[in-house]
Amino acid sequence: MKTIKFAVLPGDGIGPEVMAVTLKVLKAVGERYDFSLDFEEADIGGIAIDNHGTAFPDSTHALCQAADAILFGSVGGPKWESLPPVEQPERAALLPIRKAFSLYANIRPGLLYAELSEASPLKNNRIPSGIDLVCIRELTGGIYFGQPKSTYEEDGESVAIDTMVYKTSEIERIAKVAIDTARARGNKVCSVDKANVLETSVLWRKVVSKYFAEHAPDVELSHMYVDNAAMQLARDPNQFDVLFTENMFGDILSDEMGVICGSLGMLASASLGATVNRLDLPFGLYEPSGGTAPDIAGLGVANPCAQILSAALMLRYSFGENEAASAIETAVRTAVTGGSRTGDIAFGKPAISTEAMGEAILKVLP
Ligand code: IPM
Ligand code: MG
Repeated sequence: MKTIKFAVLPGDGIGPEVMAVTLKVLKAVGERYDFSLDFEEADIGGIAIDNHGTAFPDSTHALCQAADAILFGSVGGPKWESLPPVEQPERAALLPIRKAFSLYANIRPGLLYAELSEASPLKNNRIPSGIDLVCIRELTGGIYFGQPKSTYEEDGESVAIDTMVYKTSEIERIAKVAIDTARARGNKVCSVDKANVLETSVLWRKVVSKYFAEHAPDVELSHMYVDNAAMQLARDPNQFDVLFTENMFGDILSDEMGVICGSLGMLASASLGATVNRLDLPFGLYEPSGGTAPDIAGLGVANPCAQILSAALMLRYSFGENEAASAIETAVRTAVTGGSRTGDIAFGKPAISTEAMGEAILKVLP
């Protein structure tokens, strides 16, 4: 029997409770689809600050390095918000782990089942058949990582600087991910930039156009300014199939995509690396798009679907277990549309616990 080896980093807030249910689901899926799990857990984020004095300990890094993929919960919370910004879990754990493993390709599916459309803040007549698009976000470049990046004193006042920088090779490799994603879906990519103002965007548009012309004449490519894209996403989200953009624009647009898709508790994500694992498949980090939800942490009521769907992405991208991945996705859809709902998506249906949601999914696993 095949064994899949991954690192489990539950993190803070609701991370550990949704992770526990996800591991149960994965184990059952493995039994049905003929693979076994080999995983170890390690601390990351706030809990790592508490236990090791640093948000991304070397021991956690080593565990990830020895694995073929990372299943990640979420990091951060009120307890660590008074630390200096660079020591807080988001900046001291999430950004460094992305950089450490060159996780440059962030894939965020925006999926809203038609049956759940009342969960969206958009009027239902705008999304009669739900929403289905995917955001491809460049994750290790741009203004998040560009140098110089600092705050200093000048002429008696504080001045802060962030630098937005992109190289052709960084743009090309993420363009390839957008193309591969589009070919597996509707064959249509909208590249989002701010080429009327930013030099990085002028380069982005030029490189993307050339790359698509040379490598993907079969894929329909359009360009849109980011301000317009934000508006179009709220007006008619299904005009997009693959929404493709740089790091900060992708951060902002993917949150907007998340909210129009109803609940962050349903949204998975994959961050794929520049390196391959021992199976010659992309090494990746898989995490829910939502955060730690400190207000409900520990209550056993969080929606585990985003974490479970992230595990499905891990099976697909890093382990090539396509059938098992699709089985999980089908089971989540069947359970949720059949009426099994945690509080965030209940809408009049009885709200069930995190654990009961996991069981409802397992019961309908194909
Ligand atoms: C995300 C988050 C992170 C980001 C934060 C927590 C650093 O918002 O994954 O979208 O900005 O990338
Ligand atoms: Mg974000």
